[in-house]
Formats: sequence, structure tokens, C-alpha cells
Amino acid sequence: MIHASAPGKIILFGEHAVVYGRPAIAAPVSQVRATATVTPAETGVRLIAPDLNTAQWLHEADPNDALAAALHHIRAATGIEQLPPMTITVTSQIPVASGLGSGAAITAATARAVVEFLGRTDLLTPAWVSALTYEVEKIHHGTPSGIDNTVVAYEMPVYFMRQQPHNRIEPFAVAHPLRLLVADTGVRSHTRDVVLDVRRQWEAESARFEAIFTGCGQIAETARRAIEQGHIAEVGRLMQENHDLLVEMTVSSVELDALVQAAVSAGALGAKLSGAGRGGNMIALVTEDMETAVRQALLTNGAQTVLTTIIAHNAV
Ligand code: MEV
Repeated sequence: MIHASAPGKIILFGEHAVVYGRPAIAAPVSQVRATATVTPAETGVRLIAPDLNTAQWLHEADPNDALAAALHHIRAATGIEQLPPMTITVTSQIPVASGLGSGAAITAATARAVVEFLGRTDLLTPAWVSALTYEVEKIHHGTPSGIDNTVVAYEMPVYFMRQQPHNRIEPFAVAHPLRLLVADTGVRSHTRDVVLDVRRQWEAESARFEAIFTGCGQIAETARRAIEQGHIAEVGRLMQENHDLLVEMTVSSVELDALVQAAVSAGALGAKLSGAGRGGNMIALVTEDMETAVRQALLTNGAQTVLTTIIAHNAV
């Protein structure tokens, strides 16, 4: 039996603008994970996802189904014509459609477990897992920037810029740990729909949206330096500025704004929505002293769950 897992993720700075080539910063949320287990079977490839209440044979699955697509890509990438009989069970602690990268984590975990089962451990590099996950993300997201699969596969904070021929993927130093509360509005929102709607707006008002995206990119650049130098208060202020630009993009929501406002009123250094928006999660930067008060304010103002994640030193 083989197990593999991959973490959830948050976008610290630059969501949406990153689709248009601006830099962004993301980090893994290691305490919520997707896990895939592969066991040998007598016949066929069986895909089981208890959280989604599904169990299906690969040969009968809709090829656009995320798990089936992952398996088809793995088969193509390994050059194996016929996959050996196996049962793949996927579970996830990451809520779906919540901005925490559940789809990318499920694909990455599945890719790792299956590739190990196939004895192709040579493929088990973050770069390979990320590239495979990206192919599957394209089915679901239309035009993903590549940041979600990158942070989930490398499992470290990254500065990311979409560019040809290779994306810029840079780890950076975290001089002072960032303590973040991640609060779920409980409202589900599909990345693909929100990304598509931003595209429509960008097509209709390209100059205004280009200026907003450039603003987000500049915030991400400044934030990277602030994180590297340990200027926590500035990181918080920049989160606030980024949230305001996301409001201008119309990707915030009443629920997200209420949580951002509640966090800041309770003393958070800064807060913003994280991920595609229109639902899902927001993040608030806190110190240990204020954590309890901000958590309470979030729960009182509609958060369904609040978890703490700490972004600490990075291997640079
Ligand atoms: C989703 O986590 C981040 C977005 O910028 C989409 C993407 O980068 O693919 C909204």
C-alpha cells in the first residue's frame, strides 16, 4: 500500500493579476492535506473518493473528471500503455471551492502515489508533480497561472511569475515568521468562473484592469522585500492595499469584506481575501498576542472555521 499527500495553499499577494503575468506570493498550508492511497487490485483501475461519495472505474469515468484526467496524464507521461490493476482512494481535509487549492492538492497527491506504485520514483520531483498538476488544472480552471500547482508541489513559500519559456519560481527568506489566520466564509466559489469573469471585465476595460493588475504586482514586489526584511507591519498594510484592489476587481463579497473588516477592527495587522474570491477563504496577519481576539472576531462575524498557519524560514 502506498500513501502520498499534498498540502493546501494560500495566496498571500497577487491573485488574479498573476494570471496576467504579474508576480505573486503563495505559501503552503501544511496542516490541511489531500491524501492518496494506492493498493494493488485483481482487475481494473478503481477510483474512490469517499468525500465526494464517488467510486468509479477509470475506463468508465468521464475523461474530464479530475481524477480520471490525472490518471490519463500519468499514463501518457510514463509511457505505460495499460496501467496495472489498482485501487486509488483519495481523501482531503481541504474544503473544495474554497480558495485553498484542493483540486491541485488532490492531483499532486494522486500523481505521487501512483507514480511510486508504478515504480517510477525517478519522476517524483516537485517539478514533475507540478507540471502534471498544471495539465489537470487547465481542464478545470481554463487559464491557470500555474501558481497553485507550484506551491502545492514544492510545498514552500514561493514568489511566482508566469512567463515563457519557464515560469519564475523563487523561494525567498522569511526574516520574521508570519502568523496567519485562515478563515472560511463557508461560501463555495469556483475558481474557473471567477477567473473567467475577471477576463470578461479585463476585455471590456483593459486599461483600467491592466492598471489594477500592475498595482497588485507592485504590492507583491514590495511585500517580498518586507517579508525578507521582517517588516511585519508593512506586510499587513500591503495585504490591506491588495484587498482593496481585489474589491475593485469585484472578486470580493459581502462575507469576505465582513471578515476582513472584523479582523482589522480586532487588531490584525492586515487582512485580505485569498484565492479566486467571491467566497472561500480570507487571511489575517496577526501576532501571538492578538491571535485569540482576532479569531473570536472572525468567528463572531461569520467564519465557519479558522485555522492558524505560520510561514517561517524558507530554505534559501
Ligand atoms: C487561484 O488560487 C489564484 C488565481 O490567481 C488563479 C490562478 O492564478 O490560476 C485566482
